[in-house]
Amino acid sequence: MERFQQLQEELIEGARIQDEYDLSTINLIAPASPTPLKYFYDLPLRHNAIAEGLLGHRPYAGVEGFNRIERIAVEAACLLFGAEHANVQPHSVSQANQAVYQALLDNGDRVLAMRFQDGGHLSHGLRFNFSGRFFDFNFYGVDRTTGLIDYDALEEKAVTFNPKLIVCGASSYPRAIDFERLAAISTKVGSCLMADLSHPAGLIVANRFPKPFPYCNVVTFTPDKTMLGPHGGIILCKNDLSEQIDKAVHPGVQSSVPLRRIYQMAQCLIDASKPEFTDYIDRVIKNMKAFEAEFGRIPNIMITGGSDTHLMVIDTKNTFGLTGKQSEELLETLDILTNRQVIPGETLKPYVASGVRLGTSWITARGYNEVEAKEIAEIILDNLSDPANLVVQARSKEAVNNLLKIKRADDVWYEES
Ligand SMILES: Cc1ncc(COP(=O)(O)O)c(C=O)c1O
Repeated sequence: MERFQQLQEELIEGARIQDEYDLSTINLIAPASPTPLKYFYDLPLRHNAIAEGLLGHRPYAGVEGFNRIERIAVEAACLLFGAEHANVQPHSVSQANQAVYQALLDNGDRVLAMRFQDGGHLSHGLRFNFSGRFFDFNFYGVDRTTGLIDYDALEEKAVTFNPKLIVCGASSYPRAIDFERLAAISTKVGSCLMADLSHPAGLIVANRFPKPFPYCNVVTFTPDKTMLGPHGGIILCKNDLSEQIDKAVHPGVQSSVPLRRIYQMAQCLIDASKPEFTDYIDRVIKNMKAFEAEFGRIPNIMITGGSDTHLMVIDTKNTFGLTGKQSEELLETLDILTNRQVIPGETLKPYVASGVRLGTSWITARGYNEVEAKEIAEIILDNLSDPANLVVQARSKEAVNNLLKIKRADDVWYEES
């Protein structure tokens, strides 16, 4: 019992430490965006109901409210993305992707996806992931000079490899995706086209990134990266795949769903339809443009030469002789959070990596503007270019401290008018 008492205290301490990061650091981790507290604390739900089964086909009594709430989340998701059908049940995007593969493929079927080093995700065929174990993945990538997706090479590979599914969407690709071109390639080789849009989902809703429909057959995303919502998986598709997708989710890869998350998702999807959300995304992009202007002063530092989105990747190894890990750790000592990132043509292990990924969702949600974004970029450059300079470090730490003092928002994602 004594150990449980200790565990109780340690649990609270762990939460305090983690919460402290939110208050005492500048968070540039690309998928980090603060979820408004109203999604957690003001829920008009007495308990966290759980129900199994697909919407309208649940082997449970007492689910009328559950069905209504899930139906609202489904309709809001379809309206926002122009989809014909949505399944909001997956617990994560990896699980959503698993359901899509299960719906469209048999074990051993061929899939063409973006290479991990070039921006792809674990669940897009990494050898150690379920995707790479059960399906025959081959990869396309970016042009080594421009850093942009090489659609001609992709097409050539699709023709020779003849995949049943082409997967697009990425974790660290900072540019728009040409869904129309990909759809033409898919049609040519007779494959389905799936887009994992976990990162740009909020930009799509705000009309600042190409729309995946009608070009893609299936789309997956989570509302927690750029939509200021809860973590979870959403699958969107056209009507012809709705039954296959739903069955692949349940009973295919999961059984029950927690109502609180479905409620939070519905709320976030409704909020994302508001002009304030578009305004938030515009400010996210403006802050990234401020980063682009600063980093752009150093040749070849930005993979692809810049960004169309909320994120960019910088090559720290070739620019400053620092690995991604060293850069991330140095910046953390200044209370700036980033994450090490593999880059196209990567020669180091992913845990070390040659670059760092930077995003502006969190700083924007906390009220920072372009002037402050420029200052943050300057601090990063001053330190990465002179990593042993203690004077620069002390000055930078003070500057970060001052930035933290002027943080304008703790819990709103739009400026009050
Ligand atoms: C493109 C992409 N897909 C999927 C995921 C994984 O999502 P989850 O952590 O919900 O499984 C991520 C995020 O890490 C991602 O960037």
